[in-house]
Amino acid sequence: MKKNILITGGAGFIGSHVVALFVKNYPDYHIVNLDVLTYAGNLENLKEIEGASNYTFEKVDILDESELNQVFEKHDITDVIHLAAESHVDRSISDPLAFVRTNVIGTVNLLNAAKSYWKDYEKHLFYHISTDEVYGSLDDGGFFLETTPYDPQSPYSASKASSDHFVRAYNNTYKLRTVISNCSNNYGPNQFPEKLIPLCINNIKNNKALPVYGKGENIRDWLYVVDHARAIDVVFHSGKNGETYNIGGFNEWKNIDIVRTLCKIMDRKLGREEGTSEKLITFVKDRAGHDHRYAIDASKIQQELGWEPSLQFEEGIEKTVDWYLGNEAWLENVTSGNYQKYYEEHY
Ligand code: NAD
Ligand code: DAU
Repeated sequence: MKKNILITGGAGFIGSHVVALFVKNYPDYHIVNLDVLTYAGNLENLKEIEGASNYTFEKVDILDESELNQVFEKHDITDVIHLAAESHVDRSISDPLAFVRTNVIGTVNLLNAAKSYWKDYEKHLFYHISTDEVYGSLDDGGFFLETTPYDPQSPYSASKASSDHFVRAYNNTYKLRTVISNCSNNYGPNQFPEKLIPLCINNIKNNKALPVYGKGENIRDWLYVVDHARAIDVVFHSGKNGETYNIGGFNEWKNIDIVRTLCKIMDRKLGREEGTSEKLITFVKDRAGHDHRYAIDASKIQQELGWEPSLQFEEGIEKTVDWYLGNEAWLENVTSGNYQKYYEEHY
């Protein structure tokens, strides 16, 4: 059976890397990228595969049930890789309902579309992309395992946890074939500059303050986005029905150390005297309910599916800085909102 794979959120940060990888590596699959193009979705992220014969873009909102059903019919969708979401924790604190709508109701809409369009569930897969934040916050010891009980602490993580529960409920109740992966913090090209790493790169470039929440002691586990896309490829092809796979970089950093590292790299690349950018560091009011530490134990996917990160952080962060410095127009567009205006006129 020919695979017609629906990838949702494919114009966003991680989705664009997943779409590009599948379009390039699997010429026999038809990849349908479904995205409503919120502030975080940008078709510029997909320039390299635009016009490929095995690729189609559909500007559709996952909240629109009727349009979702039409996309399943029109493209005879065989599998789903679901990334579309509201993804920024700070935005979820100011507008939780937007996260309930897209992340919870949107996911249930997609599950319903798959459930009603597919006839023989054995032949299809619904793959849901989730986050390590569903497990809550760690002290300085221990790791998140696939068996760690859910304990979401922010409106964003509560909405993602809820969507994970719905996916498992459809697996159990209706026997839809599903798989879930929960990944740690991604970094790399195409990330919207509201997130820590691209925000700092952009602000250092423009000599603006670098807002570090609290004391900068919070810890995240960082993974290069292309390595996440490679893991998604592996889980899609070899993951087992009903299973969960944790994905992470075994690469923990305190926020303040990440920011200082970026300052050093940027000083060197911009030809500034060492120490110049560090002066921009500004400690600001902490994020409400700020999770202290995330750390993934990725042994299961390593041992059962043979995936491991390919890039060392030192190399990945250099590549990331180079990408942002080499793509000034992209940064300018996403920060000015020009591209939103363009797409409103063209799609
Ligand atoms: P992103 O915000 O960069 O992209 C989200 C995409 O979803 C955008 O293209 C947006 O237009 C689209 N979208 C939003 N609402 C939509 C709707 N109602 N209908 C259709 N499309 C819609 O997000 P990201 O950082 O690439 O994250 C992608 C997925 O991976 C999310 O599910 C997120 O929870 C998960 N995740 C992210 C990270 C991370 O570090 N960024 C880590 C683990 C898991
Ligand atoms: O762990 C996976 C999650 O990682 C994903 O599910 C989310 O979609 C993604 O946004 C990310 O969430 P974080 O909240 O960890 O990412 P963010 O880049 O917003 O923040 C990283 C850390 O840096 C966090 O401890 C908050 C801090 N921070 C963030 C910003 C934007 C600052 O200190 N200053 C800032 O300006």
